[in-house]
This record gives sequence, structure tokens and C-alpha cells, in this order.
Amino acid sequence: MIDKIAALKQKNEAALKGGGDDRIADQHKKGKLTARERLQLLLDEGSFEEIGKLVTHRSRDFGMENEVYPGDGVVTGYGTINGRLTYVYSQDFTVFGGSLSETHAEKIVKIMDLAIQNGAPVIGLNDSGGARIQEGVVSLGGYADIFYRNVQSSGVIPQISAIMGPCAGGAVYSPAITDFILMVENTSYMFVTGPHVVKTVTHETVTSEALGGAHAHASKSGVTHFACANELECIENIKRLLSYMPQNCEDDAPVYEYEAQDESRPALNDIIPANPNQPYDIKEVITELTDAGSFLEVHKEYAENIVVGFARIAGRSIGVVANQPAYLAGVLDINSSKKGARFVRFCDAFNIPLLVLVDVPGFLPGTDQEWNGIIINGAKLLYALSEATVPKITVITRKAYGGAYDVMNSKHIGADLNYAWPTAEIAVMGAKGAAEIIFKKEIASAADHDAKLKEKEAEYVDKFANPYGAAARGFIDEVIMPVETRGKLIKGFKMLEHKVVKMPKRKHGNIPL
Ligand code: HXC
Repeated sequence: MIDKIAALKQKNEAALKGGGDDRIADQHKKGKLTARERLQLLLDEGSFEEIGKLVTHRSRDFGMENEVYPGDGVVTGYGTINGRLTYVYSQDFTVFGGSLSETHAEKIVKIMDLAIQNGAPVIGLNDSGGARIQEGVVSLGGYADIFYRNVQSSGVIPQISAIMGPCAGGAVYSPAITDFILMVENTSYMFVTGPHVVKTVTHETVTSEALGGAHAHASKSGVTHFACANELECIENIKRLLSYMPQNCEDDAPVYEYEAQDESRPALNDIIPANPNQPYDIKEVITELTDAGSFLEVHKEYAENIVVGFARIAGRSIGVVANQPAYLAGVLDINSSKKGARFVRFCDAFNIPLLVLVDVPGFLPGTDQEWNGIIINGAKLLYALSEATVPKITVITRKAYGGAYDVMNSKHIGADLNYAWPTAEIAVMGAKGAAEIIFKKEIASAADHDAKLKEKEAEYVDKFANPYGAAARGFIDEVIMPVETRGKLIKGFKMLEHKVVKMPKRKHGNIPL
């Protein structure tokens, strides 16, 4: 018996060592933690239960039979984060560069199956060179088994991917299907093919960082939602992100304690500049409207003309979607529409109510936008907001022009409560453009063209650059003072807490992708 216990101990100890002390030291030298160290930081102390610690690969080619590491390059199991059940896998770069073998994939698949059956999130800590090259098609099959489960789990349980090392090939496609991607600056990369292949095929010379580093994906491609300064920040962000989410699509997000207090926010009365063409920062409005310190911005560096993120109102999770007048005047373009739509769909899938703040001059004109598909991409946001059945409240702070008025959670596409501030301007287009079109002849025949244009522009402003036409028709439920907006939102979301919408029977909609 003692021998058997000693043998087990030895096997377990070998598993804890991954690819061995030298490779662990290399990992640390690069400023990276090991797979197990990361899990220790992520999960509540003592909560981790490992599954599949002694699994080994079955490869017998290229001398692989002589290189066998218990666990096979991935640590899998379950534990809790702030007391809530979470399934995890953490790839071990010290074992064949964290590459995915047949058995490595089987371990991840086992975790994913348990997660979906038991209704809890899956967090993947990725640090992998992709398909294990020595294994061929079985590792490709392993990836496909994971992708399939990512898709089956989508909208059922939250899936979060942290990229914590160089991730190539298949190692980037599973994260791409999950709900949120976080990357670590300077030590993590994502690319389908690395700089070497890029050089061979396109003759471009590019570094890993420029091609697929955290900053490139946070600001240029939008592939990652968060660029984190280091691994600790990345892990803290995962925990914070989870705190806004329910465990699964049939659950509600955790509610934080909140004591009723004076909800007036006088600072809001002074945010909108007197000149309607002057920018202001919509994040100041978000900060005033939501619980102190609760706003977690998502996709911060990407398409900054729209701001999205999670927050709480009176302790309850909401998703915020807001035009940003401080960046490109808050115009809707291809990237901001895609960013907004993806966030809205996550919130809707997981019962997180939506607050939409509107200050939008319209869609961005031009050949670049038209040829790259502003029509089909702008339609994504329209589709996502129309489709969302969670409680939806809109506040128009200033401009709501043209098609963008419809798109930004108008009453017509299913918003539950639509508020406007007295500074709101709701019209088909800006006054100058409108006057030039509808009073073209009058302006042309006037002795002083400019004076006539100004006069007609003022006439249009007087008639339409306000919220009262929309309020008269009930498209706006109430014109409210900025100072009282938070109080209105608290009551509104509470009133909508048990909202039920029955959708027509169908297999699934066909969002313009
Ligand atoms: C087997 C691998 C491996 C892989 C790395 N290693 N990637 N072993 N299969 N895919 C091993 C290395 O041989 C090395 O072993 C150890 O991991 C560390 O790798 P290094 O290259 O020394 O590390 P580094 O310089 O940091 O570079 C990391 C890397 C690079 C950028 C990930 O290793 C790399 O480019 N790997 C190959 C990437 C790739 O092309 N993958 C296949 C994609 S195809 P030793 O023993 O020396 O420590 C794919 C198909 C799926 O994934 C598609 C689905 C849609």
C-alpha cells in the first residue's frame, strides 16, 4: 500500500512540473506565469478541483513516445470565483508550447460539456502554439470538437478567453467564438499565421507585436475586448467581467446591495455645451448615471465613437451603449455599428438590461464606408437592438438625426422607455443640410443667398431641433431634466424587471453578417 501511495504521489508531482523546471524558469523569464499559477490567482483559494491530471498523449511518431508529460499541456477542472462555480482550462506552454494534441483537446471538451450541462461559465487561459504539429489530423479534429462546443455554448453560458502567450492557428479561433477576449500587453499575440509566414506570402516585414499584439487587436482589428498591462490585471478583469453576468442564460446576474439615497445628479445639468456642435465626453454622463465606480468599459480602444460597457444601477447589472460626441462627433460607422451590435447581443442573450444614450449626427458618409459595407454593417446594430427583448431604456442627450435616430433604440424598434433631455434635437438631418435641400429655390432666388440660408436654417432649427415633436407623438415618453435622469432610470429598470416578450416561432433570425 505504501508503495502504491508513493507511486501516486510521484505521478501527481510530475504533473505539477509540466514541461520541467527549466521550461518553467523560461516561462518566468519571459514575464509569464505558469498555467497553475494563473489558476491559483483566478480561482477562490482552495476551490480548484483538477480533472484529467494524469492524461497523456497517444502520439508515437517523431520520437513523441519518449516525451510524455502527465496532463499533456493543459490544466483543466472547476472551482469558484467569488463563490460562483466556474469551469476552467489553462494551457501549459512548458509542454510542447501549449500545443493542442488529441488528448489535450479531449480534456477541454470534457470541461466544456460539464459546463454546459451544469450551467456555469467557461474561462480559457490560452498560451498555445496551435495544433500539435506531430499529431496531424487528430489535433485538427480536436480543435473542431472544441469549436463545435463553443458554438453550442454560445448564448447559453458565458465564455471568456484570456490570451496569455503566443497563440497561433487553431488557438485563436476558439477564443474568436467566445464572448470576450482579454490580451496581455507585450507577452501575448494572436495570429492565424505568424510574421515568418507573412513574410513568405506577402513579403511584409512585421513584428509579432505589430501583427498580433494586444494593442493591435484592441485598437485596429477589434478582436480583443481588453488589453491588460500584465497577467494580474488580466485575471482581475476576468473576475470583474464575470461579476456583471449570470451563470447561464436562464439565470439573472448577481444583484449587489444598494441603499436608496438622493439620486439627483446636478452635475448632469452642466455637461451639454451651449454650442450644439461642441463635443463633450459621454463617459462623464455614464459615470453620473450609474453606481459609483461600477462602469467597466468594453472595447475601449476600438471604434471610440461608440462607448459600450457594463455598469450597475441601484446594484443591478446593465449594459450601456452610448454615442461618443468627443470622438468623430459620435457618428455611426462600420466599426462602431459592429462593436455596438456584438455587445447588445451578449447582453440580450444573458438577460442584462440595456441603457442607450443617444447623441448621434447620423451615419458616416463616403466611399470608404459605402464600399466597405456601411449598409450591411450599420444594419447589424439596427437588427441587434430590434431583436433584443431585455428591458431597454433610451435617453437622447442631444442629437438624434436621420436613420441613426431609428437605430439607436428608438420606440419604434422596441425600446420600453424613451427619454429626452431638453437639449435633444430629433430630425431627419442637420438644419443647414435640410435648409439647403428644401429651400433650394428660395435661397437661389434671394438677393443675399447666405442671409436667406441662415434664415431658413434658423426656421428649421426652431421647428425640429428639439424633442417636442417626438414627445407630442409619444415617440419620447417624457422630456426630463438631466439632473433627474438617474432617478428615472432606477425606477424604469425596476418597473421592467419582469418583462416578458414572446418572439414569433422560428429556427433563428438571419442577422446581416
Ligand atoms: C508542437 C510546438 C508547437 C506546435 C510550439 N511548439 N508550437 N510543438 N506543435 N504547434 C514547441 C516548440 O517546438 C518548442 O519546443 C516549444 O513549443 C516552445 O516553442 P518556441 O518556438 O521555442 O517558442 P517561441 O519562440 O516563444 O514561439 C512560440 C510560437 C512558435 C510563436 C507559438 O513556437 C510557433 O510559431 N509555433 C508554431 C505555430 C503554428 O504554426 N501552429 C500550427 C498552426 S495550424 P521545445 O522542445 O524546443 O521546447 C493550426 C490548425 C488549426 O493550429 C486550424 C483551425 C482553424
